[in-house]
Amino acid sequence: MSKYILPVSVIGTVIGVSVLLRDHVTGGACPSKAKIKGKTVVITGANTGIGKETARDLAKRGGRIIMGCRDEEKCEAAAREIRSDTCNHHVYARRLDLASVASIREFVSRVNQEEERVDILINNAGVMRCPAWRTENGFEMQFGVNHLGHFLLTNLLLDKLKSSAPSRIINLSSLAHVVGEMDFDDLNWEKKKYDTKKAYCQSKLANVLFTRELAGRLQGTGVTVNALHPGVVATDLGRHTGMHQSQFSSTILGPMFYLLVKTPTQGAQPSVFLAVAEELEVVTGKYFDVLKEKDPAPQAQDQEAARRLWEASARLVGLSPDTTAGSVPAQKPSVSVGQCLAR
Ligand SMILES: NC(=O)c1ccc[n+]([C@@H]2O[C@H](COP(=O)([O-])OP(=O)(O)OC[C@H]3O[C@@H](n4cnc5c(N)ncnc54)[C@H](OP(=O)(O)O)[C@@H]3O)[C@@H](O)[C@H]2O)c1
Repeated sequence: MSKYILPVSVIGTVIGVSVLLRDHVTGGACPSKAKIKGKTVVITGANTGIGKETARDLAKRGGRIIMGCRDEEKCEAAAREIRSDTCNHHVYARRLDLASVASIREFVSRVNQEEERVDILINNAGVMRCPAWRTENGFEMQFGVNHLGHFLLTNLLLDKLKSSAPSRIINLSSLAHVVGEMDFDDLNWEKKKYDTKKAYCQSKLANVLFTRELAGRLQGTGVTVNALHPGVVATDLGRHTGMHQSQFSSTILGPMFYLLVKTPTQGAQPSVFLAVAEELEVVTGKYFDVLKEKDPAPQAQDQEAARRLWEASARLVGLSPDTTAGSVPAQKPSVSVGQCLAR
């Protein structure tokens, strides 16, 4: 019997530490039981991963959910699943390709026509470490989708959000922002050799800087904006990385990571928390690491960088740098990426 004591206690310790680690990594569930009947939520990239589970949770709470996704079939399939799972019939699939300025404008025009209000905007969609792709308008794909697409979408929805106040904007960033650097001379990777990892980190740093600048511009409007890192979540986000594709990762690393990595349902909890928690109604311009407010990296607290990014982004997507002061006129991007960056 005694020869089994050591291996059994080692296995027990490993399991115990893993469970504790998992609890620590996952950060827990949204503590608020708030219902959001009568509120309208717009959420991007909601056909899969964190976005889909956020949409499901908010549908359970009674919200009217507008899911903006680039693939209409996948979006409708996810919306159908959520409607049937939650018995909430107010879950709608809408086409939104954040890699296309025209698609973003079409989406917003439909929302403005069909929706009386937008109470919660969740900028969730993301692409990570893709090859050196360009958006329809010539922007580097990760900067273009993760930051510029959401920058334009948010600005175009601001009048609706302001008229629905108190309202909330939630930007999904990542812990990856801590190693991010803004290269204002080459935001779109036109001059230097493309580095897919650095491009992702830059885009996630941009999410936090955008949050900071927008919060300042929205003071006194009743619209809040916060950024978050959802934790490490098992989703399709790694689809372009070698790790995700390799046999070694799925058979050996997969089971090991299982205890440490969140499910999409757990990964949705920070977004749900920022969307509904009563105590966060007036909290704005903050960064949350899972459910806890935390200082972001020093470069994400650089006010001058936040202002510069805002101005560069506005020029790139064809908005006036003063957009939050009033309505945004419909216009096409008026300058090429190269022209803009030369300014
Ligand atoms: N998973 C993590 O560990 C983790 C960690 C830190 C931060 N995050 C952030 O969390 C957010 C959600 O990621 P996830 O993990 O749920 O990843 P995911 O499962 O890959 O979901 C990403 C979503 O974004 C959509 N998307 C990509 N490009 C788009 C475009 N051009 N237009 C519209 N939608 C587009 C995807 O649509 P398709 O299905 O059509 O591609 C998908 O619905 C991202 O912003 C990510 O950076 C995730």
